[in-house]
Amino acid sequence: MEFPQVVMQRYATKTFDGKKVPQEKFAQLQELIRNAASSYNIQPWRIKVVTDDATKKALAPHAWNQPQITTCSHLLVFCADTELEDNIDMLAKAGAPEQYVAAMHGFAEGLTGERRLAWAQRQVYLALGNAINGAKALGLDSCPMEGFSPEEFAKVLKLPANIVPTTLCPIGYASDAPKPKVRFPKEHVFF
Ligand SMILES: Cc1cc2nc3c(=O)[nH]c(=O)nc-3n(C[C@H](O)[C@H](O)[C@H](O)COP(=O)(O)O)c2cc1C
Repeated sequence: MEFPQVVMQRYATKTFDGKKVPQEKFAQLQELIRNAASSYNIQPWRIKVVTDDATKKALAPHAWNQPQITTCSHLLVFCADTELEDNIDMLAKAGAPEQYVAAMHGFAEGLTGERRLAWAQRQVYLALGNAINGAKALGLDSCPMEGFSPEEFAKVLKLPANIVPTTLCPIGYASDAPKPKVRFPKEHVFF
């Protein structure tokens, strides 16, 4: 499928048919997500993959019992990782030039408190974009979701404080049908 078709055919799926996505296909999707762009290439994301029914059931009430949570194949919990220094160290080990590493450390030091989380979360949404379009390109369906309690998800998934649930992306095979897209006109969007 060409990218324009991917964008036009992707839609926010409300219910999945429960069928499991084969491991090789999911691995392809993981590659598309992992290769998302991020500022400085710091990649401040960790993505918890939930496939077992018991955990999905435990999470559902903390997402308004939206049916996507329990009917999907793989529930991706996109988390922002605020330990930026660890990622910068990994980039240094991977061969990033010394000057660039120093610039990244300076940048990270300047990001304090809420600004650090907000910055990391902005990057997470780029990975989410790859997930929803990547899924469609691979013949899968998805739904970007913010209707959940990040605090309760962190508790159920026993996440450390630096891994902050930011957005969800259930993946699977839709059992509903897309509705016509409602989008503002080009003249409004572009000025
Ligand atoms: C960040 C984000 C959060 C969203 N949260 C939810 C959600 O919690 N539940 C849901 O059913 N849809 C959710 N949506 C889906 C939007 O409602 C949907 O993308 C929008 O209505 C446009 O429809 P389309 O994606 O089918 O074209 C979310 C979308 C985005 C981008």
